[in-house]
Parts: sequence; structure tokens; C-alpha cells
Amino acid sequence: MADTHSQPSVTDPGDLGVRLTLLNAALATKVVCVRRYTRHALLAGGACHEAMRAVFGLHARDEQDHALRLAERIQQLGGRPDFNLGGLMSSGDTQDDEGRTLVELLRENLEAERIAIASYRDLIPYFADRDPTTRRLLEELLDEEEAHANALHTLLKP
Ligand SMILES: [Fe+2]
Repeated sequence: MADTHSQPSVTDPGDLGVRLTLLNAALATKVVCVRRYTRHALLAGGACHEAMRAVFGLHARDEQDHALRLAERIQQLGGRPDFNLGGLMSSGDTQDDEGRTLVELLRENLEAERIAIASYRDLIPYFADRDPTTRRLLEELLDEEEAHANALHTLLKP
């Protein structure tokens, strides 16, 4: 007798809209991170702080890679990657960085990484068995975000 208690699958359209909405929100956050890290790399370079310029530049490239991987997954699921940042642009991303200290920049990025880590920890259980492929992607991104946070934390140490 067939098991009628099967798990929802990736082909189950029941919650596909929810998954796509969650992934598009994660994508938008990534795009904001690429912009912020790129601006901060330029500022650190201008202040002749090469170690920070290198870290911010590396993180900008990692976040770009994350954005691409999320966008590709949205496509694979039949969705449309949304690059319209909407309300996200009004928070922090548009602020003028001139005059800010390097420590302030580090703290802002560390705070953003911690928010991203908390967000992935919330998302992963939702995808869990519903969509294991996306769950694994989110777990990989979480690992990399934790590495980013550790790198920033190290730079903030006196
Ligand atoms: Fe990050």
C-alpha cells in the first residue's frame, strides 16, 4: 500500500510562492551587501588601510557570488529573480559614508552579517525537507556569512 503521508516536494506548488518570496528577499539583501562592501572597500583604500580594503573587497565579491547563486536557484524553481530593491534602499545603503571612521564601517558590516546569519538560521528550517536543494544552498551561504563575521570581528580587535 502506498504511503499517503509523503512530504511536500520541490514540485509541490503549494508553497512555491512563499519560497520564491523568501529567496527574493534574501537576494535583495545580498545586492545591498555588494553595494555596501564595494563602497567601504573604496573608502578603506582611500584611507590607505589595505587590510580592510582587501577584506571588504573580498566580501563584496563573495556577496556577488551569493546573489548569483540565489538568483539561479530562483530561476531553477521557475521564479523570476527580483532586483528591485524597494524599501531596502532607504535603510543605510544610501547614506553618505564620508567622514565615517573605519571602525564604524567595520561595525556596520559586522551588524549586517549578524542579521544575515540570523536570517539564514530562520530560513533553513523552513526549507528543510520541503526543498533540500535550496536548504543546502542556504547552509553553504550561512557558513560563508559566519566566516565574514569572524573576519570582521578579528579586524575590530584592538
Ligand atoms: Fe557576508
